[in-house]
Amino acid sequence: MNYKKRSCTRELMDDPYLDTLMLQRVYADINKVNTILQGFSLSLRAIEKIMEENPQDSYTIIDMGCGDGSMLVKVASFYRDKPVSLNLIGVDLNSKSIALAKEKAREHPNIRFQELDILAPEAKELQCDILLCTLTMHHFDTDEISIFLDQFVKLSRLGIVINDLQRSKLSYHLFKLFSLIFIKTKIAKHDGLVSIKSAFTKLDLITFSVGLPHVEHDICWRWAFRYLWIIRTKGKQLPYGRD
Ligand SMILES: C[S@@+](CC[C@H](N)C(=O)[O-])C[C@H]1O[C@@H](n2cnc3c(N)ncnc32)[C@H](O)[C@@H]1O
Repeated sequence: MNYKKRSCTRELMDDPYLDTLMLQRVYADINKVNTILQGFSLSLRAIEKIMEENPQDSYTIIDMGCGDGSMLVKVASFYRDKPVSLNLIGVDLNSKSIALAKEKAREHPNIRFQELDILAPEAKELQCDILLCTLTMHHFDTDEISIFLDQFVKLSRLGIVINDLQRSKLSYHLFKLFSLIFIKTKIAKHDGLVSIKSAFTKLDLITFSVGLPHVEHDICWRWAFRYLWIIRTKGKQLPYGRD
């Protein structure tokens, strides 16, 4: 198998005809991966870092490709007793994901959801302090990623947190083992492997970052086989014609 290039195989979970119960089970598997392999806490720490660097009384955070809303529920729970007010918005293309997310977040009045394609013109109207994109970027073609990253920079006042997978032979084979033990659905087993093949090398991310020269980039490898890419957008100076 070739890991030099990103695969363009589509994930089964992106099938709009997948029934809601099955989709819910797939998200349960993804959430298990995020919990055991610390994907949630990685994103939470990155959000904390941006907040510490930019103290404010309140923040608007948008999660692009929010899935079943678990990440935003984690954020809301983490900050519930802290002296900061959060306005949390989840965006996802899939109406069934949005329905599951609304149900999951029903005890959090500061979270709302919007059914929207990240690439749709309406997405240009969203504004936030911090923009999150976790395990979603690898669902897109390279050309589309360049388009929405440019857009993300315009939408976020302070920073962007991208948490996505590393494309590598080792992570592919280790995920096979991991999924034997921890993953229940065939779809999540299949999509996990497709995700790794569609994911990124550090060079891929650096190449994207070169297309965004007017903001600050911090790209780090993190356990387990993730890249955490923080883009600091405060004080960005967009080139003429890009704002
Ligand atoms: C692997 S899930 C990640 C969910 C969640 N962010 C997480 O970290 O577990 C990818 C999500 O991206 C959403 N998605 C895919 N293409 C999208 C698009 N064009 N616009 C908005 N959401 C999209 C899918 O519906 C799915 O919920």
